[in-house]
Amino acid sequence: MDPIQVKIEELKEKINQHNYNYYVLDNPTISDYDFDQLLLELIRLEEQYPEYQTADSPSQRVGGGVTQQFETWTHQYPMLSLGNTYSKEELYEFDQRIHKLLTEPVEYVCELKYDGVAINLIYKNGVLVKGVTRGDGVVGDDVTVNVKTIRSIPLKLRGDYPQDFEVRGEIILTHKQFAILNDEREELGYPTFANPRNAASGSLKLLDSNEVARRGLDSRLYLLLGEQLPIINHDDAIQKLKEWGFKTPEVVEKVSTIDEVFAFIQYWDKEREHLPFDIDGVVIKVNSFAQQTALGTTSKFPRWAISYKFKAERVLTPLLSVDFQIGRTGAVTPVANLAPVPISGTIVKRATLHNADMIEALDLHDGDYVYVEKGGEIIPKIVAVELEKRNPSSKKIQFITRCPECNTLLVQNPGETQIYCPNELGCPPQIKGRLEHFISKKAMNLDSLGEGKVEMLFSNQLVHSIADFYDLQYDQLIGLEKVITDEESQTERVISFQDKTVQNILSSVEQSKQVPFERVLFALGIRFVGEVTARKLATAFRSIDQLANATFEELTQVSDVGEKVAQSVIDYFNQAQNLETVLRLQKAGLQFEVRDEDQGVQIDLFQQGSIVVSGVFSVPRDDIKKLIEQYGGKIVSSISKSTLYVVAGEKMGPEKEKKANSLGIPILSEQDLYEMIDKEKKNIEN
Ligand code: IVH
Repeated sequence: MDPIQVKIEELKEKINQHNYNYYVLDNPTISDYDFDQLLLELIRLEEQYPEYQTADSPSQRVGGGVTQQFETWTHQYPMLSLGNTYSKEELYEFDQRIHKLLTEPVEYVCELKYDGVAINLIYKNGVLVKGVTRGDGVVGDDVTVNVKTIRSIPLKLRGDYPQDFEVRGEIILTHKQFAILNDEREELGYPTFANPRNAASGSLKLLDSNEVARRGLDSRLYLLLGEQLPIINHDDAIQKLKEWGFKTPEVVEKVSTIDEVFAFIQYWDKEREHLPFDIDGVVIKVNSFAQQTALGTTSKFPRWAISYKFKAERVLTPLLSVDFQIGRTGAVTPVANLAPVPISGTIVKRATLHNADMIEALDLHDGDYVYVEKGGEIIPKIVAVELEKRNPSSKKIQFITRCPECNTLLVQNPGETQIYCPNELGCPPQIKGRLEHFISKKAMNLDSLGEGKVEMLFSNQLVHSIADFYDLQYDQLIGLEKVITDEESQTERVISFQDKTVQNILSSVEQSKQVPFERVLFALGIRFVGEVTARKLATAFRSIDQLANATFEELTQVSDVGEKVAQSVIDYFNQAQNLETVLRLQKAGLQFEVRDEDQGVQIDLFQQGSIVVSGVFSVPRDDIKKLIEQYGGKIVSSISKSTLYVVAGEKMGPEKEKKANSLGIPILSEQDLYEMIDKEKKNIEN
């Protein structure tokens, strides 16, 4: 074998093993950085020697580009669904049906019912060849490129596997990944997903597999199908799947009576709140394959399995009142105050009503009795009104028209559901919210000032603008007092700032002057400018002065900066009070320019030239952009005569190519880019 091929095979094996350790066993044995280096080495070698690239290479996990439409695929074995039960009675009826049809003893296997999207994976000779969605059960979508990006799904199997088989399971998103995804989307102004299942299903059907690769999807595989499999029952199948490298259900409990099944259900109905992902019930399966075959299927469901769906606990309680809360951005959120009632182990007193549309949809009236549920969501919600208990003369809940905090007329932007208080600079919760945002960890990280202390400074009129933090004096702070009421014991105590507290506050204010520009920009609290956007703006414009002078067009040229963000930046710098705040912060000595050491720019290869990145690369496109920015390039989204280079991956749009050629702008391949950087590095070293 060619030594290069040997090297590639070795790298693939190593990477596969690390992937398995990390994503299946949850036990990494290498740092993320070292792992990335291995992967990068593989990608580069495969690029240089494409003849050695194979479909099962872990390099495929970074995404295979953008598809126009998925091909359809007819399932060899139809993808059936499961019959549902909701009560003990229905469950016992299932058991009776089974025992009527079978004479010998039955063993059941209980598993969690993962709340995700069903997937069918086809393996041939130990290599994943297809990943298909359920579709209508007969024909599904071929989403192989997307499935390959899911790290816990093996591209190549381990051990002694059958040559041909299919395996089915669920694609899920953990609560942690779901929160990361929604936070990011909120920052970028995209609509957030309602729950992890929607997010997983939306992600799996994305046409851009590079984006899928970033979503952090996970999997559980629970059903093995094929001819002449070396296994005779379900729990052995799960064991085998595990040995071959799949991530299988965490709980597979064998029991022999329906009472034990019910005990399993009751246990997980409570315990599920501690799981790091959503389940919506329990699945009960007959263990023996011979018995499964004897029981057979109906047109829709197997007779040998059933699901038990958990009920979201729902209670009826009177609505006491509705509060309207003003957030940092001025958004008004209606919150229902309820007569306290226990649900799933906690006492619920309040439930969010989200926005005006929800009040309208519920047709909520004063004094209504409402049904409250605490389902998968953390915050309880009102799901319905009990109309029979409504007082006929009660009035409909009206959304307020003026801000309850500052009495300003509220506004609603066309096409948005959110209602805002526009008095950004004078509305107390908005001011306090801005102060709290400013001191937060990801912003200026003024860790000696928690929310409580900011409240004290605000109510003592020591801070109003974020710039006021930098004028604080020792004498103003020492001995400052506040009465705190402990809600539970209803006792009051006085806290006062002692010398140590004051010293800590002043020193963390001083230290914050070293916080890099991108975080200062985030800390300013410009609407729609989240952490990621702030970083992009800082990298593109380098200083607050350049950013403040940027035109709408220049702003929208920055990757991921849409019209909404651009307009918000312009609006921010159009307000005299904001300009004054920035000026005061500048005078105080905060960082308002990118420093080289913050960016890791030692080599200013591209000298702030505009670079357009287009097409599909061997690594996520964002990594290419980051690399360019790291070497001093400015990423822009469209080609103009001032563009320095176009970096083109595969499938660059023909229009872009034409435009670049007509303007005489050099087009670099991914490889050219790497070589250019390597050359410059070597030049500098010499
Ligand atoms: S077994 C013949 N096991 O729930 C179908 N399904 O509502 C065999 N699901 O279609 C399915 N967790 O998408 C099985 N541990 C589990 C499951 C599970 C979630 C899903 C699956 C199924 C749906 C039925």
